Amino acid sequence: MSIVKVEKINKKFGKKQVLYDVSFEINEGEILGFIGPNGAGKTTTIKLMLGLQEIDSGTVTINGYDLKKDFENAIRGVGGIIESPDMYMYLTGRQNLNLIANLYKGITKKEIDDLIKIVGLEKRINDKVSKYSLGMRQRLGIAAALINKPNVLILDEPTNGLDPQGIVEIRELIKKLAKEKKMAIMISSHNLSELDNFITDACIIQNGKVLSNTSIKKLKSLDVSKYRFKLNKTKGLKTLFANKKIEVINDETFEIEIDKKEINGILKKLISNDYEVYSLFKVSMSLEEAFLKETGGNSIE
Ligand SMILES: Nc1ncnc2c1ncn2[C@@H]1O[C@H](COP(=O)(O)OP(=O)(O)OP(=O)(O)O)[C@@H](O)[C@H]1O
Ligand SMILES: [Mg+2]
Repeated sequence: MSIVKVEKINKKFGKKQVLYDVSFEINEGEILGFIGPNGAGKTTTIKLMLGLQEIDSGTVTINGYDLKKDFENAIRGVGGIIESPDMYMYLTGRQNLNLIANLYKGITKKEIDDLIKIVGLEKRINDKVSKYSLGMRQRLGIAAALINKPNVLILDEPTNGLDPQGIVEIRELIKKLAKEKKMAIMISSHNLSELDNFITDACIIQNGKVLSNTSIKKLKSLDVSKYRFKLNKTKGLKTLFANKKIEVINDETFEIEIDKKEINGILKKLISNDYEVYSLFKVSMSLEEAFLKETGGNSIE
């Protein structure tokens, strides 16, 4: 069952329409990458989902509750951070979490300790936030967003400005939350490659419109793939396979985009034209390549 359902939401600022019929769903345990270039409408979509701005038309349903009609029940299930978490710099990490916990009823110290452990801040939780690295602040922000035990977590560009180590830590944390807590997670980014091998689903947005919305498994298992051949020579291949997408890498290597059913035909053609085939393997597609294929060559930058 989908935990989050966004259906045909539209948003205008004055006369300028910034979202057009945006739709997607997130199921339990899924990590949806919400990907698009600057100004695509990511933050606006997220603000609408968190009830921070009003939706013009369309619906957002969270845990079965309509955000417009049943705001309290819908929003109860959601934790979110927009752009960067708000924290009191002169207080410690724990003091910040306690302040937020006080907004809700019955959050125990043990629950807060567990959260601190999940985000890996045990050793530094009694330091002032002003002494934290950006990555530590992001992780504290995620702990704060989890205090009211939501089953939906929405993060707007949580890895912005982080170094590679910080990015890895946030990824591992999000994977853990999806897997162990079965949360439905949405994470926005303008960087497709940063989300590779990490998200389970991708929704690509550009100029306020969803271009593509699919599971990564499906995206990557599209029939057409790239194969790399090693031969005794590569001269003449471009003519031989003039009707195919082919790239000659060097004197003995070339790559070609074909369906797996075409491999035999390619081999026969090579052999009958006096090429010696030394090896052949499938080149795994990056998320970026898979997306380009799905959208027929649209670039998102
Ligand atoms: N409060 C506002 N008033 C007027 N226009 C706005 C407002 N907020 C956003 N916009 C416009 O809406 C469009 C989408 O902005 P949004 O912040 O949602 O994009 P984004 O995908 O989050 O971009 P970024 O990657 O830069 O964060 C932009 O053209 C922006 O200028
Ligand atoms: Mg944004």
